[in-house]
Amino acid sequence: MSNLGLLTLTVIATQTAAFAQQGDVTRGQQDFRACAACHSLEANRNMTGPSLAELWGRKAGGLASFERYSTALKSSGIIWDDRSLDGWLTDPDRMVPDNEMPFNGIKDARVRIDLLAFLKEATKPGAPPQLTQQDGMGGSMGGMMGGGGRDPSLKKLDPARQVTAVTYCHDTYRVTTADGKTRAFWERNLRFRTDSSNAGPDKGAPALMPAGMLGDRASVIFTVPEEMSKTIEARC
Ligand code: HEC
Repeated sequence: MSNLGLLTLTVIATQTAAFAQQGDVTRGQQDFRACAACHSLEANRNMTGPSLAELWGRKAGGLASFERYSTALKSSGIIWDDRSLDGWLTDPDRMVPDNEMPFNGIKDARVRIDLLAFLKEATKPGAPPQLTQQDGMGGSMGGMMGGGGRDPSLKKLDPARQVTAVTYCHDTYRVTTADGKTRAFWERNLRFRTDSSNAGPDKGAPALMPAGMLGDRASVIFTVPEEMSKTIEARC
């Protein structure tokens, strides 16, 4: 075969390989479930991890509204693009030792290609909401992984979820809700949390959210910590 023939073949083969590498956005959206407990795609909606909106071209650790970056990630000097994201998702610890993303990485290149194809679409400015909205994306995984932030909005709650009073007596919290019912919890089964974001409850209307499989546990979510001391009263 002539050199030119060989060259042409090589070029075709390379192009075909590159074409085969195109990710499948729909599959990638499914794969994003592994991330959705910790990452939103809505601008500045931060959860365990930073929002991934407008990720391409961003400096690693550079989202001003996210408060919990590790020093390692902030000082890594990485700019996020196809290549650096592929490295990060393959093995975060290898790429940025001492980072604080609790995730082992994705060893299957195919999955990374699909996921990145999806992310590239869903994180661009003005991406369509059907790609970026969280609700329903990850099934019940969010709760199990401690994400919590993916619960639907805590505003305009059902009266059975809206807390009007909490009392504490011996080892028991009693939580009264807007439907007039009072439920008792062993003190170690009730958690108090806050959500000061737009997804959080209305001020003065903390939310009672069931937790765990048996229905014996729950969280009361306030807007800010000051509300807790105002709401919880020690009284038998
Ligand atoms: C259990 C929670 C968790 C999961 C699951 C998770 N991440 Fe993260 N992610 C984080 C945290 C926390 C950080 C910040 C790490 C740091 O500062 O060291 C982070 C950082 C990142 C960053 C850097 C963002 C920036 O602003 O520099 C990217 C990109 C990212 N994650 C993508 C993903 C993708 C894609 C997935 C799914 C395959 C995923 N993460 C899964 C918690 C998570």
